[in-house]
Amino acid sequence: MKFGYFDDENREYVVETPATPLPWINYLGNQDFFGLISNTGGGYCFYRDAKLRRLIRYRYQNVPADMGGRFFYLRELGKTPWSPAFLPCGTALDRYRCRHGLGYTVFESEKDHLAASLTAFIPLHETCEVHSLTLKNNGKQEKEIELWGAVEWCLWNAADDAANFQRNLNTGEVETEPSVIYHTTEYRERRDHYAWFSVNTHTDGFETDRDEFLGPFGDWRAPRRVTAGQSKNSEAHGGAPIAAHRITVKLEPGEEARYVFLLGYAENPRDQKFSAPGVVRKDGARRVVDRFLNPAAADAALAELKSYWTELLSVYTVSSKEPRLDRMVNIWNQYQCMVTFNMSRSASYFESGMGRGMGFRDSCQDLLGFVHLIPDRARERILDIAAVQKPDGSTYHQYQPLTKRGNNDIGSGFNDDPLWLVAAVCAYLRETGDFSILEELVPFDSRPGSEAPLLEHLRCSVHFTMNHLGPHGLPLIGRADWNDCLNLNCFSEEPGESFQVTGPSDGAVAESVFIAGMFVKYGREYADLCRRLKLGDEAARVDQAVADMEKAVLTDGWDGAWYLRAYDAAGNPVGGESCAEGQIFIEPQGFCAMAGIGGAEGRPQKALDSVRKHLLGDYGVELLTPCYTAYHKELGEITSYPPGYKENGSVFCHNNPWISIAETELGRGEEAFDVYRRICPAWVEERSEIHRTEPYVYSQTVAGRAAARPGEAKNSWLTGTSAWSFVNISQAILGIQPDYDGLRIRPCLPRELGELTVCRRFRGVDYTIHIRNGGGHRPQLRLNGLPLAGDLVPLPPEGVKTCHVEVRL
Ligand code: BGC
Ligand code: NOJ
Repeated sequence: MKFGYFDDENREYVVETPATPLPWINYLGNQDFFGLISNTGGGYCFYRDAKLRRLIRYRYQNVPADMGGRFFYLRELGKTPWSPAFLPCGTALDRYRCRHGLGYTVFESEKDHLAASLTAFIPLHETCEVHSLTLKNNGKQEKEIELWGAVEWCLWNAADDAANFQRNLNTGEVETEPSVIYHTTEYRERRDHYAWFSVNTHTDGFETDRDEFLGPFGDWRAPRRVTAGQSKNSEAHGGAPIAAHRITVKLEPGEEARYVFLLGYAENPRDQKFSAPGVVRKDGARRVVDRFLNPAAADAALAELKSYWTELLSVYTVSSKEPRLDRMVNIWNQYQCMVTFNMSRSASYFESGMGRGMGFRDSCQDLLGFVHLIPDRARERILDIAAVQKPDGSTYHQYQPLTKRGNNDIGSGFNDDPLWLVAAVCAYLRETGDFSILEELVPFDSRPGSEAPLLEHLRCSVHFTMNHLGPHGLPLIGRADWNDCLNLNCFSEEPGESFQVTGPSDGAVAESVFIAGMFVKYGREYADLCRRLKLGDEAARVDQAVADMEKAVLTDGWDGAWYLRAYDAAGNPVGGESCAEGQIFIEPQGFCAMAGIGGAEGRPQKALDSVRKHLLGDYGVELLTPCYTAYHKELGEITSYPPGYKENGSVFCHNNPWISIAETELGRGEEAFDVYRRICPAWVEERSEIHRTEPYVYSQTVAGRAAARPGEAKNSWLTGTSAWSFVNISQAILGIQPDYDGLRIRPCLPRELGELTVCRRFRGVDYTIHIRNGGGHRPQLRLNGLPLAGDLVPLPPEGVKTCHVEVRL
């Protein structure tokens, strides 16, 4: 069952009912200022950091859910108030549609012949949300309408705002001007920033005190001022400051009116904070308010945003006979890659925005699916990430985007982290050819004076693994590897203890076969890079370490028909046939097979066959089987989940692409595409009532066969699945791979994708790649009409801006 449809022409998902199984959200903003908005208008916005610079309040675990955001009310005299986005009023509408597009959301609704169209977006280069509202009288009589637009301010730090009432109920402050309400809490002391909510018209009244607006026992569904049709122009002092504007509208039959509401953020230099004693300097807000006085400016800004996306997405497009493939590749998968790059795992409807900042491994992997879109931002990100590495090569696990410093609460000890830096940097180099990044001076642990070239950071990463080997010569796991819940050195027995920080951050015995796979893959990439840089000795050292690691995996990391997962702190195998539960895990099958470990003996193929046999369900490849049925303190959080959920045997979508990519390495196009399709949103859309999360983006997990409700997804949007799925489909299945010296073209397709064209902009050259799939494995290439040996299309001579490639399989 579906709750809407894809409108590919407009690059939108059209939600046709407010009653989706869960709020289905979208993201606004591309850089610095972001908003989350659901299909009923819920959500919030923030400047850079969802925890520290939150503009409006959002109540978690609220009942009903998602009652928070930007509140709009329309009340015709004598009638029930309603909201263009359905909430907060929840009044039944005669017509409702929510169109989630790229960086904008439109609500189109109608009640009693009054039509509303509300468009929300964040203009490029502005730190404000625009909510542009058009009202139209479709009736036969004149209409008199009261329009209210309102927001409830968050007192900046979202965590403190939700907890520290004894202070916060005293600090709230606002300033008001005609049509603009400023939120100025704590500006009198150490803050240099303020927020505002404005409308581009004369208003007939306002409120800034929430209790005054809502009234006794009042709630956001039916504020007393809205139902009563009056305003008291209240001024908040402490309590809960809000911004609510009241506008009276008269519309003749057929007549339209337009309003532009702005919800913005501005900063001032500290020494120029005040325009008069105690008065906030407001030119930052004023400039933006003036820009959007005329609604045409909002249209122009939205058009600009749309062309920005058109341009971005033109870097990689496919045109095939499978619309589901095209819409994922050309629109939604790349869009999600931008969002995960921006947010890491910080702010979604499942990540509160108050917990983790940017994850080290998460951001490195997100970059893999983003680097082709805006390489300069990827470059900047790499340098930020590398700066939270420590001199011994270990890394902080997370950092705050506002301060860019490593997060001490979680610290380090996740032993896969360092190697992801190699993955990210090599992806950047292959995309851009910009080797100058390797010379950039980057500090360790953000400490001034400790700067070393980025290349040295890569060396530290690789040598960290080499210096932390366990009894079998496999990498020590530390707190955890990619699987945060396989905590082999934790041994927690206290309820509520964090598995992420309990127990020693290291341990001399517990080893990870997964990190071994990563080391073979990325150690080799690093050695190749060293060779390119004529660092022969270093390349040889690492080649040797890689060869030793392969040997260690084949000797002690192989379990007969698949790769073992790990050794625990007592030296017992994890993820082998001798284990009662958790006999086979997906991660080492994916990574060791991608790394080709034991290729000569057919190990990758054997491992992938085992994956199909044991882990593949209708909804994708599950993380492990059989699921753990009891808690094991020697294994940690993974056994804390009920069977079939999260790391305990759900379809953890993130590592499905690893399997798919590994299948392409073996030339198995059918199997690769089969895995791709099972978790792909556009294919899953038909089962939205089971899946429940948004049908246009990947979710982190989908309950596995051992769960009570297999197929139910959790945790949509912020997942590494997005980047890896894009790498999988764009580079492995469609096979267009950026490489140091050109574009490598190695499609591995299922038969059903007979003929297709990929357009790829790469280092400033537009490649049109036309692929005819006759079911073969070895691509035969013709470049601009002439046969080409091998699969590498070399960079064309200076000045050549287009290339035409014919590929036959
Ligand atoms: C989740 C993991 C996550 C970890 C880190 C765990 O509770 O299951 O998926 O990576 O927390 O925050
Ligand atoms: C989510 C985390 O963000 C990611 O870093 C981790 O690899 C997976 N969960 C698996 O535990």
